[in-house]
Amino acid sequence: MKNQQLSEFNKNERPVFHLTPERGWMNDPNGFSRYGGKYHLFYQYYPDATIWGPTRWGHAVSEDFIRWERLPDALVPDREYDVGGCFSGTALTYEDGRHMLMYTGCRPDTEEPRDGGVQIQCVAFGDGVNYEKHDGNPVITGDMLPEGGDPYEFRDPKLWQEADGTFRAVMANHNKTHGAQILLYRSRDGLKWEFESVLADGEGKPGWMWECPDFFELDGRHVLLAGTMGEVESICRIGTFDSEGGSFREDWWQSTEQGFDFYAGQTVSAEDGRRILIGWMQNPQTAEHRGIDLPINGQMSIPRELKIRDGMLLQKPVRELEDYRTDETVYKDVRLGENAGREQRLDGVRGRTVDMELHIRPEEGKMYEKFHMRFAADAEHYTEFTYEPGKSEVTLDRSHAGPGKTELVRRQAKVRDRDGRIDLRVIIDRLSAEIFINDGEQVMSAVIYTDRHAEDITFYVKGAAVMDIAKYRIKENK
Ligand code: FRU
Repeated sequence: MKNQQLSEFNKNERPVFHLTPERGWMNDPNGFSRYGGKYHLFYQYYPDATIWGPTRWGHAVSEDFIRWERLPDALVPDREYDVGGCFSGTALTYEDGRHMLMYTGCRPDTEEPRDGGVQIQCVAFGDGVNYEKHDGNPVITGDMLPEGGDPYEFRDPKLWQEADGTFRAVMANHNKTHGAQILLYRSRDGLKWEFESVLADGEGKPGWMWECPDFFELDGRHVLLAGTMGEVESICRIGTFDSEGGSFREDWWQSTEQGFDFYAGQTVSAEDGRRILIGWMQNPQTAEHRGIDLPINGQMSIPRELKIRDGMLLQKPVRELEDYRTDETVYKDVRLGENAGREQRLDGVRGRTVDMELHIRPEEGKMYEKFHMRFAADAEHYTEFTYEPGKSEVTLDRSHAGPGKTELVRRQAKVRDRDGRIDLRVIIDRLSAEIFINDGEQVMSAVIYTDRHAEDITFYVKGAAVMDIAKYRIKENK
């Protein structure tokens, strides 16, 4: 890789407040945990190319979820049982104070050389910087799968410890008859495991495999998150966990993402009790096929604070982002209309490292037809968000975003009918945009590769609406 290309990229194009790999490929977040007074985030990392290769665990730490410091790679695929890749997993603080990682090893297998090989669960321990693989690896193998479980699609342990000290882990598996399933295992010491139950299963829908499960308590309920292979959907199921019987009864389904790019979400419990979710800001189906030449491929989402309100998951950007705001521009009661067919601009409202709050409402007594917002715009390019109150529908469209080819260019979602009112929080960081709708009821994320000089943000309303806006630039340091 050319170093000059990397330094140009770092100066002008690298996302400022989203975690990116130093070079090469990044996918899922791993081992998101609090250890030694810091938040640790590991990630699926392949430094030698900008496409997927046998992954290692990259490592970064942060005190506020925004500024990350990269540390040496924590796990590399160097054992007979993981040379096909150190796949996704999680972390916790072990009883003796060490940082414990649980991950999937891919063991290449010549009889049936599918992808990385057979998938087995492994453990490593460390001090927050250096990690050593456990001598007894692997700790869970294919012969501990329930009937019909496919040992080649068996991965991504999410590890936790119950109040009574029992270790538990859920992991993803494909079952020959039911399709996707999430399996629950238990252990007294985190090293000797036994199969407990099938926690959830997809009966084939949606997707044939749910990857990277997370399972946790939130506001008195239990939440199961997973990524879906073969569909653009991030699963969120809310329900009741019967801890004794190891069963999960779901009563609410939604998607954690309505846009294009959010996958393999993983949560941590913050020091103040908030549950924070971070995801790989990509779509696994399109990530490798972008057709442009940049020294990195992959970034993490903005971490999201989770809550349950009226039985539904709400997501908001972590409040720590607000400490990086500068150059405030505020407008109240801006009338947006058809403006002789021209997009409307507001002085000071532009840029590619932006945090912006918008409140849109109809003009007294008259419903508008459609609200349009374009960003990362210049004379030829833009990404567009629209809202049609009559249909309660939002759309994110990156078909005019320029370079970076992807077939996935339009996503639509239903939002709550609020008589033409809609609240948006828009976060733009050079190569991406994340739009939080109505207090986080929906989120739409998009990776874009539009030239960095495309900084315009414009508005247009079919009919007429009124908007309040507060816009900030996000700076690199507090
Ligand atoms: C999800 C995933 C995981 C796996 C990892 C390998 O993106 O396929 O299931 O552990 O990536 O990099």
